[in-house]
Amino acid sequence: MKFFIDTADIAEIRDLAATGLVDGITTNPSLIAKSGRDLFEVLKEICEVVPGPVSAEVTAIDFDDMLREGRILAKVADNIVVKTPLTVDGLKTCKTLSDDGIKVNVTLCFSAAQAILAAKAGAAYISPFVGRLDDTGADGLQLIAEIVEIYNAYPNFHTEVLVASVRHVGHIIESAKMGADVATIPPAVLRAMYKHPLTDKGLDAFLADWAKTGQTIGDAGGKETRRSA
Ligand code: G3P
Repeated sequence: MKFFIDTADIAEIRDLAATGLVDGITTNPSLIAKSGRDLFEVLKEICEVVPGPVSAEVTAIDFDDMLREGRILAKVADNIVVKTPLTVDGLKTCKTLSDDGIKVNVTLCFSAAQAILAAKAGAAYISPFVGRLDDTGADGLQLIAEIVEIYNAYPNFHTEVLVASVRHVGHIIESAKMGADVATIPPAVLRAMYKHPLTDKGLDAFLADWAKTGQTIGDAGGKETRRSA
């Protein structure tokens, strides 16, 4: 499963990219607004830090303007993926850009029917929003299961399932069990994935026992394990 980070916060991106576990980034107009920065400036910076796919969303709502914006965004860097909304015009834009060799992430997907349309429009990624569906009382993960099943039934569909609107670690675990290709994860949720109280407790015990031995493993000079005097 690939991990994208769902943020336009460059400090968070630099910090998490250093883990070596970040495969890409997704942004949206709300995240750009939250960053308080110029869209093109922040996109360029993100693309320099993360070599993988970086999603940048169009903001127009009609086909001609979406297409124009999509082409402008695609020129920012080679790893830009243009994000279009799941509307008739958004999917027309997706089809045209995809036919031109520009990767598209179709966003705001809330049904299996919409996901089928996005695959037929040549989307590189479909972004079903699990958290926002859960918020309505529906089952966001059920949608992921349906889309994975449908896409697996059609080898000519090359669209990757990108789990979006992730709210907690359970969304990642369950999506991974279903074989979703990618999850775009808020920084706090990725950090939460590392945590387990038994890991902390076990580490504390190991370190306390180790301290009693008076030993060290090497030093700044890289020496081998030795017993201290
Ligand atoms: O970028 C799309 C998506 O992940 C939004 O998440 O938390 O605003 O529902 P959220």
